[in-house]
Amino acid sequence: MAKLAVPSMFSMRHFLVLSLALNVSLILRTTYYESEEGSKRFCLKKKMMADADSESVIHKPRLAISSTTLTLGNSTRADHPGPGGKERVINLDHGDPTMYERFWRQMGDKTTIIIPGWQSMSYLSDTSNICWFLEAEFAKEVVRLHKVVGNAVTESRHIVVGTGSSQLILAALYALSSPDADEPISVVSAAPYYSSYPSMADYQKSGLYKWAGDAESFDKEGPYIELVTSPNNPDGFRRRSMVNRSQGLLIHDLAYYWPQYTPISSPSDHDLTLFTVSKSTGHAGMRIGWALVKDKEVAKKMTKFIELNTIGVSKDSQLRAAKVLKAVSDSCEQEKSKNEESFFKYSYKLMAQRWKQLRAVVEAGDLFTLPQFSPAFCTFFGQKMVPQPAFIWLKCEGDIEDCESFLRGHKVITRSGKHFGASPQYVRISMLDTDETFIQLLDRLLAIQERQ
Ligand SMILES: Cc1ncc(COP(=O)(O)O)c(C=O)c1O
Repeated sequence: MAKLAVPSMFSMRHFLVLSLALNVSLILRTTYYESEEGSKRFCLKKKMMADADSESVIHKPRLAISSTTLTLGNSTRADHPGPGGKERVINLDHGDPTMYERFWRQMGDKTTIIIPGWQSMSYLSDTSNICWFLEAEFAKEVVRLHKVVGNAVTESRHIVVGTGSSQLILAALYALSSPDADEPISVVSAAPYYSSYPSMADYQKSGLYKWAGDAESFDKEGPYIELVTSPNNPDGFRRRSMVNRSQGLLIHDLAYYWPQYTPISSPSDHDLTLFTVSKSTGHAGMRIGWALVKDKEVAKKMTKFIELNTIGVSKDSQLRAAKVLKAVSDSCEQEKSKNEESFFKYSYKLMAQRWKQLRAVVEAGDLFTLPQFSPAFCTFFGQKMVPQPAFIWLKCEGDIEDCESFLRGHKVITRSGKHFGASPQYVRISMLDTDETFIQLLDRLLAIQERQ
């Protein structure tokens, strides 16, 4: 089921043309920047190229593109037509994690599963479990991965699986609110908050809960639900509860609490914590998330919500997720003995390279600024690390008041700060796209700064 087919539409001719285009683009870039000797941009670009050559994280995929048809399939999707097009619209509005595809291709058949037609036919998985549709193999690999990474306590927790953590956010809102309350319970999160929270809370005009905005300015007495996102989407900072009152019910959304994005300081130990394969391993299309829930009644209500909503969660996806999580844990445990990079080492290095290049580009001019992060000790890597978030929280400086419109004018699609409860001077840009798109983004940002 999970076997990846090489798209037949890519002939040898396509492959040669693409390879040529990429190489010409690389040469053009070098000569173009060399003609500006002495300028800040020249130095910067030379440095970027040197980085790409020496650390080969960005450069390597380009070579891979011209050496195997498998990666060609990865890099020439309709929305990634190669680095040549100055007119190409770069859409980085969503956090679609395609950057991890190369790692999973390299894993070959290690994560391939075959599900015969007679298997996984029943609605039920384990009727003795509160979450009766939870596949035992998936639950086992969730517990194992958290132990290997050290990012969450799983003892004395009920695991509730969801169709992505999006479904679990709704299940948690349902479970934490009371049908007997006089009014809907307020749902808050500190700005800048994940832009989907307000619509998730209000889309169905539930009588149970209601979006009440920025947690920092929330001063209503009584019960409330606070969504704590750490590290935060969009700005990447570590977060704690902001309201901190006795009647608060907390949902910790730890979608990005993985070593490639942030130093792992200690195992998270909260009442209700959400994780997802979308951002941990990059398998957003599998639609699998999980909740670690302390309270049995809350776990039961979340399960009930999913039962009413989708009568469980795809067993095929859970089995596939189990296989992928197993491969990640194996890669971490066997890193030393097999002398192969673990998934987190690979993804950490890729993110580090991207952030280094991004900072170099942004610092080349005065038009944009980025958040600054302090290093902290990471128990997973055993050393101090600097956070390197999945999103760029970019601020347009000077008299640019609407950063999203400004960048759209340069054919870069981003998400405005106003969707996150913040100023439109900010935009969120995904860092998780393919190498080609990321390089084009850097090129575009450099060109914009030069024109100003
Ligand atoms: C903070 C946060 N929570 C939840 C989600 C939803 O993830 P999933 O794909 O598991 O539904 C996202 C996706 O971008 C996210 O950024």
